[in-house]
Amino acid sequence: MKLLVIGRGGREHALAWKLACSSRAEKVFVGPGNAGTIGGPGGKIIPAKLDPLDFQACVAFCKAESIGLVVVGPEDPLAAGIVDALESEKIRVFGPSKAAAQLEASKVFSKSLMREALVPTADFQVCDHPQIARTYIDSQIEPLVIKADGLAAGKGVIVCDNAEQARRAVDRIMVREEFGKGVGRQVVIERRLQGQELSVLALVSGRCVMRLEAAQDHKAAFDGDKGPNTGGMGAYSPAPIATPEILEKIDEEVFIPTIHAMKRRKSPYKGCLYAGMMLCPQGPKVLEFNCRLGDPETQPVLMRLKTDLLDLLEAVVDERLEEFADKVAWDPRPAICVVLAAQGYPGSYQKGTPIHGLEAASKLPDVQVFHAGTARNARDEVVTDGGRVLGVTAMGDTIELARKNAYEAIKLIKFTGMQFRADIGSKALATPRSN
Ligand code: AMP
Ligand code: GLY
Repeated sequence: MKLLVIGRGGREHALAWKLACSSRAEKVFVGPGNAGTIGGPGGKIIPAKLDPLDFQACVAFCKAESIGLVVVGPEDPLAAGIVDALESEKIRVFGPSKAAAQLEASKVFSKSLMREALVPTADFQVCDHPQIARTYIDSQIEPLVIKADGLAAGKGVIVCDNAEQARRAVDRIMVREEFGKGVGRQVVIERRLQGQELSVLALVSGRCVMRLEAAQDHKAAFDGDKGPNTGGMGAYSPAPIATPEILEKIDEEVFIPTIHAMKRRKSPYKGCLYAGMMLCPQGPKVLEFNCRLGDPETQPVLMRLKTDLLDLLEAVVDERLEEFADKVAWDPRPAICVVLAAQGYPGSYQKGTPIHGLEAASKLPDVQVFHAGTARNARDEVVTDGGRVLGVTAMGDTIELARKNAYEAIKLIKFTGMQFRADIGSKALATPRSN
């Protein structure tokens, strides 16, 4: 079967790599991909010049290449309706419809759905005018988080320490529209929660929800969870903090009621549903839903997956996921992904800086260097082309060894301005294993 992965990040490189490992995959196109999405296992990975938001071009490509399955990586095309566009042309695609992708694309939609379905989440208020928002902020005592309603490339959430910061956040989102026009027409103002974050991804199809192994992301830019929030600076799986009891609670209190509520709204969910959780003293609460796999969580999670990913994704699309109940196999060894970012990220950064040492790093045992923001320049050198540049992912018999392997590989890679967190995985080391 010929496959097409839509997207250009580290998650998409990891998806293409894992799909190429399937004996049933003949070719894995990645559109538009990055400098890493070429060759791969069996030389099956092929870049495709595609704009994920140009649905007509995607349909034409799928027809011309007889693509058997499309896997959509990022949220933007999902929220814009790529699944609806492909399905209307009878092209098989993994991902939720435009209506179901609202769970990520609109914070107001997802918070309202959680309230209706009694899914545990932070108390909140929706405001559609900056003055109403300011008045609400002034009536609150606890620290708040201000969230733009629409998609803002992961930047529309501002975690505040005090009312002054919250008022400034409202101003940035609603008045100055720093995160895009229309994105902040409404804001969600919610209670700031305390605890450890956990990323729980599940495949969802028909009535079946199948959780993947849990992961922990590192959202803050700098060591010790300091600095501004980013798309994610590193992740590891499994997450020792995710006990079987916590995961069962998340199934019962989060995934099942959410899937039912989506069905009641006549927008059944199909694809990957990502629950961003905060493990609070009162129990796990949802911070956000994403309608896709996480980046960088996908990199360590897929490295541990032993079951054929193509089989699993097809079962979701064909609504026969229950065939895999209790049959998904995982490598018990932990995996860890450390993101190498460009200087200045998550603010502005330079592109076009040459990257050295990639070949040496990828030759190390138990290491995969997944590309994210990379491209090839006119001299055919691999250069930086985004904020998050590479996801160095490694396995080991223990989390300590996985970390050691990842950081050893990083020592071989160099580009001017390269920055990364040196403490990815340290929380896992501090948590005793319970399972
Ligand atoms: P979101 O896009 O809603 O997940 O927010 C991005 C990040 O902001 C989360 O991963 C958390 O680190 C942080 N965050 C969001 N909501 C809250 C909250 N209610 N309390 C504390 N931190 C939050
Ligand atoms: N790592 C966070 C996300 O994928 O949204």
